[in-house]
Amino acid sequence: METLKYIDPEIFEAIREEIERQQSNVELIASENYCSTAVLQAQGSILTNKYAEGYPDKRWYAGCGKIDIVEKLTVDRAKEIFGAEHANVQPHSGSQANMAVLFSSLTPGNKILSMDLSHGGHLTHGFKKNFSGQLYKKITYGVDKETEYIDYAELRALAKKNNPDLIIAGASSYPREIDFVKFKEIADEVGALFLADIAHIAGLIVAGLHQDPVPYADFVTTSTHKTLRGPRGGLILCKSKYASKIDQYIFPGIQGGPLMHVIAAKAVAFKEAKTKEFRECQSQTIKNAKSLANELKEKGYKIVSGGTDNHLFLVDLTNKNISGREAQETLEKAGIVLNRNMIPFDKRTANDPSGIRIGTPSVTTRGMKEPEMSQIANWIDLALNGYKDNNTLKTIKSEVAELCATFPIYNVDTALVD
Ligand SMILES: Cc1ncc(COP(=O)(O)O)c(C=O)c1O
Repeated sequence: METLKYIDPEIFEAIREEIERQQSNVELIASENYCSTAVLQAQGSILTNKYAEGYPDKRWYAGCGKIDIVEKLTVDRAKEIFGAEHANVQPHSGSQANMAVLFSSLTPGNKILSMDLSHGGHLTHGFKKNFSGQLYKKITYGVDKETEYIDYAELRALAKKNNPDLIIAGASSYPREIDFVKFKEIADEVGALFLADIAHIAGLIVAGLHQDPVPYADFVTTSTHKTLRGPRGGLILCKSKYASKIDQYIFPGIQGGPLMHVIAAKAVAFKEAKTKEFRECQSQTIKNAKSLANELKEKGYKIVSGGTDNHLFLVDLTNKNISGREAQETLEKAGIVLNRNMIPFDKRTANDPSGIRIGTPSVTTRGMKEPEMSQIANWIDLALNGYKDNNTLKTIKSEVAELCATFPIYNVDTALVD
């Protein structure tokens, strides 16, 4: 069979250029990471050809013997690394995982108590334009205005006042450790189910570097491609008593045939997550986030909540005369890739907010440590101060590329076979 380069040179070239972009830029998007070549190989495999609707030993199609080996291994490894009673490895994404949990545990009109989007929450936790906001009533908790830590007293008061059916812990842009035990206590006090969405912090939890919700939560959901460093996908963990309902809501509830190539790649990532190298990388990810946050703080940047306990932090740019959108666009010109982000109690809009979110999983995976964080902080400061000067941005971009060249990510020949 002809290979990609010959069949579709335009797509081949776009992928080649994207490899180059990933290689030569400093990637600070907190939800991204670089999966291993082994994960890429499994995800790019011929398993994509196989229909396997159903679950191991209970498929709707013939020829699933080898597929069953793959899915059983993936489930066993997920249960092992998280210490979970049940795992469903078929969700196509973290959003699908959340959808299955909400459908399985709520009826339309039920109440969800979850984090305000601008304080760090996620769209699938009840945002009005998301299915979750259209089907369920959302009540929001947030962070304390002074400390910018989750206000657990407010959470408890809101739970008692509103009697939610489900309480969701977990966020897309919250830099502090989440007290899952406290969430469980509050859920129990009001008879609510408890979902811990660990999409961002799953890798830290596996490495024992963040409080673990698995013993306490009824359901735990995650993406597999963030700190967990696997392929783009989702995962649900739950107590055995919810297993069959969760499985039914994934298939046939909301999905068709599982993406078996992606499930195989999840298995590879879960195996890698058991290694010392993975634990050390997660630990360095946190050290790098703390170091970068401190460096920027010393240069006069306001860090939301004063710092971070995990892999990300938020910079409040209100004292810097630049918006989040301008900062994102400026830094991209300088070879530093991150995203604009609302900050708690933001007076600006989501499209052009007051902050930026910075995460360190990708730079840590490629081997960068504190000295590089210091250098990156200098570049960020220089770029944001001279953001109208294209020459400054160009110079930074070439220095960034030089640094990146000394921290290679992929061997291009294995990442893109021609
Ligand atoms: C807290 C949280 N939950 C769920 C998701 C959804 O994950 P996915 O993009 O895999 O659908 C995200 C994505 O960023 C997230 O941050």
